[in-house]
Amino acid sequence: MEKKISKKTGFIDVLVGLQWGDEGKGKNIDQLLGSGIYSGVARFQGGANAGHTLKFEDKTFIGHIVPSGCLQKDVELYVGNGVVVDVVSLVKEIAELKNLGFEVLSRLYISDRAKLVSYLHPYLDQAEEFYRSKGGKMIGTTARGIGPAYGDSRARRGFLVGDINFPDFEQKEKDLSELHMNFLKMYEKEYGFVIDENKINEAKVKWFQALRELKKMQICDLSYLIQKRLSEGKNILAEGAQGIMLDIDFGDYPNVTSSNVLPANVCLGLGVSHSVIRNVYGVMKAYTTKVGGGDFPARIKDTEVENLFQVSGGEFGATTGRPRMCGWLDIFSLRYAIGLSGVNKIFINKADVCPTDKIEVVTGYEVDGKITKEFPLRLNQVTGVETEKMLGWGNANYGVSDVKNVSPALVTYLEYLKNKLSDLNVEIVSVGTGPDRTHFFELKK
Ligand code: GDP
Ligand code: IMO
Ligand code: MG
Repeated sequence: MEKKISKKTGFIDVLVGLQWGDEGKGKNIDQLLGSGIYSGVARFQGGANAGHTLKFEDKTFIGHIVPSGCLQKDVELYVGNGVVVDVVSLVKEIAELKNLGFEVLSRLYISDRAKLVSYLHPYLDQAEEFYRSKGGKMIGTTARGIGPAYGDSRARRGFLVGDINFPDFEQKEKDLSELHMNFLKMYEKEYGFVIDENKINEAKVKWFQALRELKKMQICDLSYLIQKRLSEGKNILAEGAQGIMLDIDFGDYPNVTSSNVLPANVCLGLGVSHSVIRNVYGVMKAYTTKVGGGDFPARIKDTEVENLFQVSGGEFGATTGRPRMCGWLDIFSLRYAIGLSGVNKIFINKADVCPTDKIEVVTGYEVDGKITKEFPLRLNQVTGVETEKMLGWGNANYGVSDVKNVSPALVTYLEYLKNKLSDLNVEIVSVGTGPDRTHFFELKK
């Protein structure tokens, strides 16, 4: 199944989330780097809406912009043109990593074509959410300015990271900020959104400070650099943010993020040809979570049981701290996500989290009184779900790193899942049993 690529040139492997984000992608990127075959890790979409947790030696680092290769000292870190860069977060993460003993600046390369998130984008994000809340239609964004930043980019009025080194940047910034302030005032006047001028001024000062740091970083034509590395025979890992179910084109629009999450976007978000892509790794949890607005058909109906998963799985957002809604494993959406993304290898996380004796698995969605074969356009069309019941396995598998020590009910669950996905040509390669980088066991063919 593995694609053959000429020995002389390197390849790109991709890792994406198969659910609604927070599947544990950061941990699996770090795990894959353990093989030593990758010389770099690249973010290709999204921004600081991502929160990728790395746990090691009782320490924690949460990456929002810095790719999850940061703990491997020899690995280059790339921020591609498809990313919307929150420069304040970037500077903060670099400082946090320095405190943890990891030097980043000499190996971090940022595309000059990446999009810059301005200090007013998060306020526009909040204003738009405020407006949507009037109609009860909040998306529940991370308030990191993702939608407005991608919106400005598509409207061709945003700024690119490389713009900061051009003399017209100052004027461009003034013009765009004026436009943003006009939008905010409109939200204030027409809808009652409250503008906090003090907060905005603080954000502005921090943003300009961070821009001065950004100017000293390695801003380059990243597409050339990556192509050069590939021509040197080096391999790169592309790190997806969010999850396929949040993809702007294929998720439950508008309850999605503002970028394409699909591996197809690696080519556009880094500036490489599709021919260099080799494996596509998909990450899923043993159950399902979602944070934010919109429908969630697999959600556990019994609130007490949902709470058990929330607490036992520590299901609180890495970026916003919001509690995540918990659902049963949703095989119907998983098959949709695998089909769209061409995943050939799967990581399962949180197999240590199963706080109930009995569990369910969602195998189908009901639309118009019938079980649908195709994923519906809108999730609010779903009136019920088809489930299958299984035995749970408790929390006994925490930290298990050898398949021989896995509890029988979990083995049955993994076999069941394998069968349910058997026609999709995917292989389950590794199962996570805890948050630490050492907490997993591998499955051999
Ligand atoms: P990401 O956005 O996909 O990188 O995932 P997040 O970091 O937002 O959320 C995943 C959470 O689960 C983090 O708190 C991780 O430390 C934790 N985690 C990852 N894998 C496992 C696992 O196998 N078991 C448990 N219990 N926690 C895990
Ligand atoms: P990682 O990479 C989980 C969700 C938000 C909201 C919707 C739109 O850590 O898996 P946005 O701020 O992107 O405009 O919000 O998408 N969302 C995520 N949920 N994990 C993420 O990233 C997410 N990034 C965005 O909660 O529902
Ligand atoms: Mg996350």
